[in-house]
Amino acid sequence: MAYIKSAALEETGYVVLDRYDQAADPKEWLDLEYVDWKSSGDTRFAPIASKTGTVECGGFWTGENPRTDKDGLWIDSQVAKAPNLVRRALEPGSNVGRCRVIELQPTPYGETLYNLHQDDNNRLNPEGTGWVVRGFFNLSDDQDSFFVLRDNRTDPDGEVRIALPAGAQLIIDTQRLWHAAYHPGPDPRYCLITSWESGPQLDDYIAKHHGVSRIESVQVSDEFLAEGQRIQDEKLAARAAALAARGEREWKPVMSEA
Ligand SMILES: [Fe+2]
Repeated sequence: MAYIKSAALEETGYVVLDRYDQAADPKEWLDLEYVDWKSSGDTRFAPIASKTGTVECGGFWTGENPRTDKDGLWIDSQVAKAPNLVRRALEPGSNVGRCRVIELQPTPYGETLYNLHQDDNNRLNPEGTGWVVRGFFNLSDDQDSFFVLRDNRTDPDGEVRIALPAGAQLIIDTQRLWHAAYHPGPDPRYCLITSWESGPQLDDYIAKHHGVSRIESVQVSDEFLAEGQRIQDEKLAARAAALAARGEREWKPVMSEA
């Protein structure tokens, strides 16, 4: 039995929604409690809904009551500080798994390519139910930053680069697409990441906000791309050599966030 998926995400694996008027809301993300949690890049996270209802970032499939990334438990202390973020996460009316703000320190492009990963959103997800995808709402106004999407980690052909000004709203099948954020800084980037279950509610939400499955990539120079690719190659080779020296097998990055 297949999973329920969104037709809007079928072609490219992502949609970009209308831009949200982020400047109209207070900067609630600066009031939240953050925990150190290494993801793709130098990161901290502020969970608002988590597996246990406490301020922690563990995978939903771990520990007691293991489950897929659905039925997140809202954390009262965090919800009280971020009513607008909670309202936006709940707007689709879809089942919410984890809901958290990521804080990403400046990340050069080559590092971003090395950070490319696929999420493990659907472990333990029963077939016949909705496929878990993720919403990314950019909170800080990162005019020079972009989200990188690839079908293949090391193949730049077809790379998509989505701009990340304040109010950018993306929904991505992050288990399908390799993804990571390029962020030149100098300040940290903040983004609300929510796991949603695919289904009619999410489809209606995407339609309501005019989701488009193709955008024009942020333009960068050929030199910029080539240098990033060179650094990715170099870092992957160094990683493979380090693993080989320890007699370990190739590492496949599967992370819970980006
Ligand atoms: Fe991710």
